[in-house]
Amino acid sequence: MANTSGESAFYVSTPIYYVNDAPHLGHAYTTVAGDVLTRWHRQRGERVWYLTGTDEHGQKIMRTAEAHGVSPQEWCDKLVEESWKPLWRHLEIANDDFIRTTEKRHTERVQEFVQDLYDKGEIYKGGYEGPYCVGCEEFKTPGELLDGEDGAKLCPIHKRPVEWLQEDNYFFKLSEYGQRLLDFYDEHPDFIQPASARNEVLQFVRQGLQDLSISRSTFDWGIPIPWDDKHVIYVWVDALLNYATAVGYGADQAKFDGTWPANVHLVGKDILRFHAVIWPAMLMANGLPLPGRIFANGWLMVGGEKMSKSNLTGISPQQLTEHFGVDAYRYYFLRAIPFGQDGSFSWEDFSARYTSELANDFGNLASRVAAMVGKYFDGALPEAATTEQAIADALADTVARADKAIGDDLDFAGGLAAVFDFVKLVNGYLSEQEPWKVAKDTSPEGQAKLATILYTAAESLRAVAVLLNPVMPATSEKLWASLGAEEHLGALSDQRIAEASSWGRLPAGARIVKGDNLFPRLES
Ligand code: MSP
Repeated sequence: MANTSGESAFYVSTPIYYVNDAPHLGHAYTTVAGDVLTRWHRQRGERVWYLTGTDEHGQKIMRTAEAHGVSPQEWCDKLVEESWKPLWRHLEIANDDFIRTTEKRHTERVQEFVQDLYDKGEIYKGGYEGPYCVGCEEFKTPGELLDGEDGAKLCPIHKRPVEWLQEDNYFFKLSEYGQRLLDFYDEHPDFIQPASARNEVLQFVRQGLQDLSISRSTFDWGIPIPWDDKHVIYVWVDALLNYATAVGYGADQAKFDGTWPANVHLVGKDILRFHAVIWPAMLMANGLPLPGRIFANGWLMVGGEKMSKSNLTGISPQQLTEHFGVDAYRYYFLRAIPFGQDGSFSWEDFSARYTSELANDFGNLASRVAAMVGKYFDGALPEAATTEQAIADALADTVARADKAIGDDLDFAGGLAAVFDFVKLVNGYLSEQEPWKVAKDTSPEGQAKLATILYTAAESLRAVAVLLNPVMPATSEKLWASLGAEEHLGALSDQRIAEASSWGRLPAGARIVKGDNLFPRLES
């Protein structure tokens, strides 16, 4: 599983987001998850590549720009620089690249890719007639539409009327890939996750695939079809190719070979078919290797519906980080909602978890331990008289569980539950051992016992800082500093997950200082 330099990077991507509006909690959900996954793999010592970006062509963006009286390019530039990039910086997203589909490094390669398909006979000209949802930028089938008022047909996701298209288009022979895709899914049972997503795709492909219209001719905000500039490339074909163009496809072969194929494409469940059906077929058609895994996350819901700006239910992440802080925000959604399932956000649930898990269980443990080492040992970590084997064993088990859950299975909730169970165990150990009472026993045995208790708790926190660093980097840094760990063990980001469980790494004599509370009391 491990990737070391020289081998291909562990490559994770988010969807590239439409810039018709500012980001909301749903977009941040996928991006934070990807960030935690990549930071986890970095702490395994692997070379990692994390990509995000923006999807800037198509009718949806064009109409939004028109409605605001600016050109689409001006609109995109403004949104990217003023809303999207600043949010990712605010949320401490450590992406290695940010691709915009209006960049030349993308548009030129997309044209070459499509030209190649044309030259190979994979594309032909035809006529398209049928419903289209501009919100999804997707050709719909009549059977999936909902009935609205006055006979209108509605998109099942946006609940808004679809448009009827009748255009001359170019088509990709997607229908010829059904069996090859099914064979591939069969040979790679982990390709589509979770299982519910895999089943949905299998069922869809088994029904038989239609050829895919890959161009539009009634507007011009897109990449021109190279052999016929009256057409622009369908925005989804353009967008999917970002995963290849961003890592050097057709431009920097060494970079491409060292990064592609992606290990994990994170996507929302609404865009699963594009990634699990159309994208692999496009790659097969051009003879490129397929990604390792498509993982579909569920939706953040509001009032039983997908949170979205177009439903006016989009909440901006800053509204929550102002109150709870960035690290608690990064933690909360991954801890509260099993990754892959839908979940509702509630202010009350967030407050409850903040107070009980972050402030009480974790924050108090850190400040109690630092305060006691300060009070009883002048801030110098004492040497343990014995190893508390039960705690050391529990730590080893925690590291193994969290590593598998987060690093391999993308089960963030399960991994965090393992770490917080361990925090609880250490809290329980302190309550049982009552070091504040033991401290009154000034005999050598009493002092040795006190030293063991406080060493055990501080050493446990050393491991917790490493395990939580991918999720809550700023808090973990504070904890690392308060344990005086850097001087002896080096930078927190250089700590390896595999070593987190070796007991006794924090040496006696480390300078423990009580810093600010890791999680201050919430203002009501
Ligand atoms: N531009 C396309 C993706 C192209 S990828 C080659 C797109 N963009 S989007 O901005 O509409 O949404 C992209 C993603 O945002 C979703 O797939 C999902 O990952 C995330 N989410 C948007 N709303 C969401 C929720 N309410 N809940 C969870 N994730 C959501 O589709």
